[in-house]
Amino acid sequence: APLLGLTALLAYGLGSVPFGIVMARLFGLGDLRAVGSGNIGATNVLRTGNKVAAFLTLVLDAGKGAAAVLVARALLGEDAAQLAGFAAFLGHCFPVFLGFNGGKGVATFLGTLIALAWPIGLAACACWAVTAALFRMSSLAALVAAALSPLAAWLLGQPNTMVFCAALAALIFIRHHANIGRIARGTEPRIGKKT
Ligand code: G3P
Repeated sequence: APLLGLTALLAYGLGSVPFGIVMARLFGLGDLRAVGSGNIGATNVLRTGNKVAAFLTLVLDAGKGAAAVLVARALLGEDAAQLAGFAAFLGHCFPVFLGFNGGKGVATFLGTLIALAWPIGLAACACWAVTAALFRMSSLAALVAAALSPLAAWLLGQPNTMVFCAALAALIFIRHHANIGRIARGTEPRIGKKT
């Protein structure tokens, strides 16, 4: 149990690293919090117009979730892997480095899910991509992918992952409350538009 606690703490710390803010600084894009939605994620980095920085943010925010899962699994097994994924996700959404007000968790969710159970992760990515292609809204794509992920886990016969997906999906919805309001009002910005 102390090892599990330490694993969760380290995964939370790793998840707390806001790569969007780091990339925005490295690429000289200014304060990401003053751009677009003010979020720290890849979608908002894209609004600066720098696709490379946005792509790196996506990969690194997903990668920190995947890394937490894979390291915990290698050292302590499957329960620890799930705990580490959850902790990394919480770190991204509520990071110690940003006064506990961080991102919306989408990339980190997809990264942890790919590492935990890649068929479900791929299914979630596919849901994201199809919804994004149809409606051109990153937030809506994330909400659809998150909402369908427990169903994907259930269909693939993975009850443990289903609970994990349901918990993260609930938090993703909470983190997107402002987006949900804008989607309902028809004012959510489309991917590829600056704001
Ligand atoms: O990954 C977050 C995305 O779903 C929405 O980001 O900046 O459009 O609020 P944003």
